[in-house]
Amino acid sequence: MNEENYTELQEGLARFVVPQELFFNPRARLARDFGVIALRAEADLQERRLQVIDLMAGVGTRGIRYALEAPVERIVLNDGNPAAVEAIRRNIALNAISPDVQIEVTCEQVHRLCYAIRLRDEHFDWVDLDAFGSPSVYWHAASLAPRWGGVLYLTATDMAALCGKLRDPAVRHYGAVTRPWECGDEIGARVLLGALQQSAGERGLYWQPLFVLDEGYAMRIAVRLHYGSAEFPVNQIGWMVKCMGCYSQTTLPLHVTVGRCRVCGSEEVQWAGPLWTGSLYDAEFLHLMSVEARKAGYQAVLRQLRLMVDEASSPAGYYCAAELGKRTHLSHLPPVDALIQRLRQAGYEASRTHFETAAFKTNAPYPVIQQIAQQLQ
Ligand SMILES: C[S@@+](CC[C@H](N)C(=O)[O-])C[C@H]1O[C@@H](n2cnc3c(N)ncnc32)[C@H](O)[C@@H]1O
Ligand SMILES: [Zn+2]
Repeated sequence: MNEENYTELQEGLARFVVPQELFFNPRARLARDFGVIALRAEADLQERRLQVIDLMAGVGTRGIRYALEAPVERIVLNDGNPAAVEAIRRNIALNAISPDVQIEVTCEQVHRLCYAIRLRDEHFDWVDLDAFGSPSVYWHAASLAPRWGGVLYLTATDMAALCGKLRDPAVRHYGAVTRPWECGDEIGARVLLGALQQSAGERGLYWQPLFVLDEGYAMRIAVRLHYGSAEFPVNQIGWMVKCMGCYSQTTLPLHVTVGRCRVCGSEEVQWAGPLWTGSLYDAEFLHLMSVEARKAGYQAVLRQLRLMVDEASSPAGYYCAAELGKRTHLSHLPPVDALIQRLRQAGYEASRTHFETAAFKTNAPYPVIQQIAQQLQ
């Protein structure tokens, strides 16, 4: 490696170099912090050190941080690019990783590696899949690596497809219709989860969501693998539906494909999906993560976790204050917290959401939201 062609960086407890020709995204720091904190939470839950594999390790930052900052017993760092693997080895040497952490570095294609893992009957507690674009091409293979009860932490960066700006790739990768609605990002997360479930269901498996992190340019999802066809969450696959007459949003089961708006009776109703209509979060896991984020002093993670705890038991979908202002011809936008408080006082569920700052979740019909917003003028 030419000494002048790389930058030396620090993130969390890890020091590392990034040769000019290799990819490293400093913006993904929050997702890596989330990974570290979630791994620590998982070790707390299992009450032991964990076996981890980073299938697309890049220059190794994420995997090295796991080895330095979480209770890891064994970690495999893999990348298909030999230059990345050279950087991983160099970066491991730069850090004082405890000798009781078993580290392996491999240079394999994800599919080849995962099928070899299955043939060797190896199982990991935690599998990281940090792909560019859609992860759908890899998730069948990646789901061969976790043990039953193990976790897959994956990335999707094909946000235009997931959030409704590009229809064709959404159909190709996820067999779903996505929509550029105000809650388009959450639809994207739910479409990802729905398609992931479908892929597991084919093999008698299913996934339990632990958390979803929407970073705007990428979606990160952590899911726990379970065995059992009878337990497959059929009732949590369905549609997100929006009325073009009164703007109310709701979810419907998969078998319901026609209907009028339950609020205003309009037939101008649009569907998004099929998608995951169940919870996006595991409340106990979020609690363990909050404890670990506080201990580690990761304030940005804690801020997101507080919003996730709040939205964990809230209805699917969300409404944006700006859209509410336009549709209701408000002279100024209502403060989101005041709106949430008034919706709760009126007997509805309401919360903020980590998907969007000036937005709220509620099961109130849209005309009720508009009425409350007008009262707040
Ligand atoms: C988004 S980067 C990984 C970034 C890294 N996880 C981080 O947090 O810094 C994706 C990596 O996957 C590798 N890659 C792409 N396709 C692959 C494949 N089929 N098998 C193995 N590695 C692959 C690329 O070489 C690249 O380093
Ligand atoms: Zn309606």
